[in-house]
Amino acid sequence: MRQNVIKQIFYTLDEIEHHILQKDSRGQCWDLRTTCAYRIFRAFDIPRFRLEPADPNQVLADLRSVIEYIEQSPMNGDPQTLGSNQVFHGCFQNDAERMQYLYGLAWSQLSRDQYFDAARLFADRMRNSNFDLSFLRGAECLDLGTGIARYALAMIQLGAQHVVGIDFSLECIQEAKRRLKGSEEGKLITLIHGDLYELSRDRDQAFDFVCANGVIHHLPDPVKGLQVVFRCLRKSGKAFAFVFSQSDGPWWRSIELIRKLTAPVPLQYAHKIVTFYEVQGTKSFNMLDYCYTPIQHKFDRKWFEQTLSDVGFRDIRFLEGGVIHDSVLRCKLFEADRELYGITEIRYLMEK
Ligand SMILES: C[S@@+](CC[C@H](N)C(=O)[O-])C[C@H]1O[C@@H](n2cnc3c(N)ncnc32)[C@H](O)[C@@H]1O
Repeated sequence: MRQNVIKQIFYTLDEIEHHILQKDSRGQCWDLRTTCAYRIFRAFDIPRFRLEPADPNQVLADLRSVIEYIEQSPMNGDPQTLGSNQVFHGCFQNDAERMQYLYGLAWSQLSRDQYFDAARLFADRMRNSNFDLSFLRGAECLDLGTGIARYALAMIQLGAQHVVGIDFSLECIQEAKRRLKGSEEGKLITLIHGDLYELSRDRDQAFDFVCANGVIHHLPDPVKGLQVVFRCLRKSGKAFAFVFSQSDGPWWRSIELIRKLTAPVPLQYAHKIVTFYEVQGTKSFNMLDYCYTPIQHKFDRKWFEQTLSDVGFRDIRFLEGGVIHDSVLRCKLFEADRELYGITEIRYLMEK
């Protein structure tokens, strides 16, 4: 019965794509595209944060309402919207620039409480997987792709002596500095604006702990990224990586669709619409993150573990536990979530 609903969800996602293409073959109805993308994203995303199984029937009903919305829309590829297109397009020279801008924009939306709560999230994930965090006490740490230094802050709160955070988005680094200004934790965090691939060789074997939270799957060469993690670690140092993983449920298909829908829509324009609809800041961040990151690898779990081993890591431990919105936990608890999403992200603690 539920399998049937899942099939219908896949089918409805195809139908949405078809309807949008019919209505807007030239990619000019930015509002319609962004609104539909947002609605699809929320249909899947809202249930992931509830303390109960997701309801595939509700997801299906939400997706059908998107089709109704498209059908009722008076929009029909209006060539007049082309004028503003020129204003937005051409802002970014390449993928990296686009990503730097995206993260600067997106991360600034995190509330102060959410920002300072990162340590709890990090610690809960580790503890719920039966990992002891005492290795962080007094540790010299590196946070690769630090964003606004959420996890760098977490490491200090959990006892690290000092953290170096690096990110190639200047907007992110500036925002991190603004948020940490005047805090005790901020004094123990050094922020570097730069590409992690180009991290100085002086940093080789300089750290007891290296964190790569959500960055490896956005890199053009993920293996090279893992090699940076490895070379910066001291012998017996530990590393943490969180990456997206392949799964069969309709979740990744929905993400693929929202990426297609928003492809012709300039990031700045989509951001304006999404934040207009938004009540809590981070959801618009999440959606933009999924829609607009130019590179979004999804790794096969076996491949990723083999690669970690090939890079040189040992004692590679998968985080079996998590917090309630982590797919690994939800899939254990709820069959419906297993079918709708599957395990969409994987986390590892490993040693050099
Ligand atoms: C999903 S965010 C994660 C941020 C942070 N680790 C966290 O969990 O809060 C990915 C970050 O990696 C950064 N990034 C991507 N590629 C990078 C590179 N080659 N060098 C440095 N930073 C990079 C992006 O700018 C972005 O801030």
